[in-house]
Amino acid sequence: MENEIYVTSKDMVYDRFRKKESLNGAWHYAVDQYNAFLNNKWYEEQYYDDKGNSLPVDFSFDEWETMTLPCCWNLAEPEYKLYDGSMDFTRKFLYAKQNEDERVILKIGACSYYCRLFLNKKYVGTHKGGSTPAYFDITDHLRHENRIHIHADSTRRGEQVPTEVTDWFNYGGIYRDIEIIRVPKVYIKDFKTALEPGSGLAKIRASVQLSEAVGDTAVLTIPELDITREITVSEGKGEVVFDASPELWSPEAPKLYDVTLKCGSDEVRDRVGFREIRVEGMDILLNGKPIFLRGISCHEDDYYHGKALTDEDRLANIRSAKELGCNFMRLAHYPHSERMAQLCDEEGLLLWEEVPVYWGIWFGCDRTYDDAENQLRELITRDCNRASVIIWSVGNENSDTDDRLKFMGSLADTARSLDPTRAVSAACLVNFAKNRIEDRLEQKLDIIGLNEYCGWYAADWSTLPSLFENSSPEKPVIITEFGADARAGLRGTITDKATEDCQAYVYERQTEQIAKISYIKGMTPWILNDFRCPRRTSVNQKYFNTKGLLSADRTHKKMAFYVLQSFYRGMK
Ligand code: GCU
Repeated sequence: MENEIYVTSKDMVYDRFRKKESLNGAWHYAVDQYNAFLNNKWYEEQYYDDKGNSLPVDFSFDEWETMTLPCCWNLAEPEYKLYDGSMDFTRKFLYAKQNEDERVILKIGACSYYCRLFLNKKYVGTHKGGSTPAYFDITDHLRHENRIHIHADSTRRGEQVPTEVTDWFNYGGIYRDIEIIRVPKVYIKDFKTALEPGSGLAKIRASVQLSEAVGDTAVLTIPELDITREITVSEGKGEVVFDASPELWSPEAPKLYDVTLKCGSDEVRDRVGFREIRVEGMDILLNGKPIFLRGISCHEDDYYHGKALTDEDRLANIRSAKELGCNFMRLAHYPHSERMAQLCDEEGLLLWEEVPVYWGIWFGCDRTYDDAENQLRELITRDCNRASVIIWSVGNENSDTDDRLKFMGSLADTARSLDPTRAVSAACLVNFAKNRIEDRLEQKLDIIGLNEYCGWYAADWSTLPSLFENSSPEKPVIITEFGADARAGLRGTITDKATEDCQAYVYERQTEQIAKISYIKGMTPWILNDFRCPRRTSVNQKYFNTKGLLSADRTHKKMAFYVLQSFYRGMK
């Protein structure tokens, strides 16, 4: 589309616990392989010419089939299983103003990849990126009876983030909630609060940004701490730092406080855990104490729901991780739903969150950088108050080139400038030429993530001890991936690829080596569950990556699950 109007991180609205009116449910839809909806401007509904003669149309919005949103269309109907492309979704809804000067925001929790919004025959705007929310101010487009269109385009493209090829399934659709949020004319657009770094766990910072550059006074309350603080707002922004002694949040004791922020006629709430994460020398410190991150990697991919996980699905993954003995989870390779971090705040699990700067990124392309940076800004803005989130990752498995260093180094700088309270990392590759942990990006990271597949893709086991002996990293390392494929239930010898015995042996050898290395301060083996993947077609994979410790439907725990569980139990 020409003259796109992009909504970005700048358009986000603080929305947790705000009253929301759901537009989830049955939407009429059409598969739109040729983007006819856009090219022929179906949204204008030209049923008559300017002389009143009726015109033929190639659409019947209210007679189209319906699909229940949010969902991944690939799992909605068998014929859409492998569909990459565009679909048009439409429905009507009524709107009645409740307050004279209210603004009305439409939030689309996630839609892959281009999300184009039309309301009452007019184009409203576009969001790019398949895993972060889009916020559209639709106030001036609204009538009493409204027709809304969302044109979703899941096409994979080289310049996008991620690019055409990934090692996971490209689900299409609108797969997180669609909601209407009413806010006052001047509203709280962003609200952050956290323990102040370097304050000896004894100060809290709170900051607020309003939707307009006006002066006001905001009032922050944390009733359980008997804290009420005024925040002077000028030109729309304000912050305050004050003494506080909250019970600290940790995975073992996930203490959350109800926090309220009022300003003018707006009021927002959050449930916040106060904790400090920082790197000191070769240690990762949680609340001042060294911690080893006993983790596991996890895709946002459910056997039945695809990327549209339910809270029950998320809680099942959290329970599996805790059963493994984890205190940490790597949410690979893109922002998962905000519900995951909210649930991990409640259940007590530390998180690594990541933007999909993944294989083959066009590191020399400005549009690609802008897309990646916007997704990072949207992720950090969305999850900044989540105690569970301790690491922002700027990508995964990219070769060390000048363009990549500039691109990902800039993302790391952006993450640190947006949020000085967390660590910045990336999942780097082994320097295979030297069999060393060596990557120029390390200079931009607080923690070095390393993907190494000794015993699987690198069959020679001797490369693992020599990798660790050859390396002398100056920052703590998290082994962000090791693993092996195993078809659930397939048994054999430890050298029979695709058997559970072989996978378990890889976990035994890997954990035995990792346990000896003092600079390794965490690990997130690949991966909790088997997941859909178009590149995995062997007789034992059948279009699934089978490196999971659990089968895709979580009904089968593989032998390696118990190897990792006993390793972590031995650490506590
Ligand atoms: C890579 C990549 C993963 C992939 C895994 C595998 O390290 O980061 O996304 O699924 O290897 O080969 O299974």
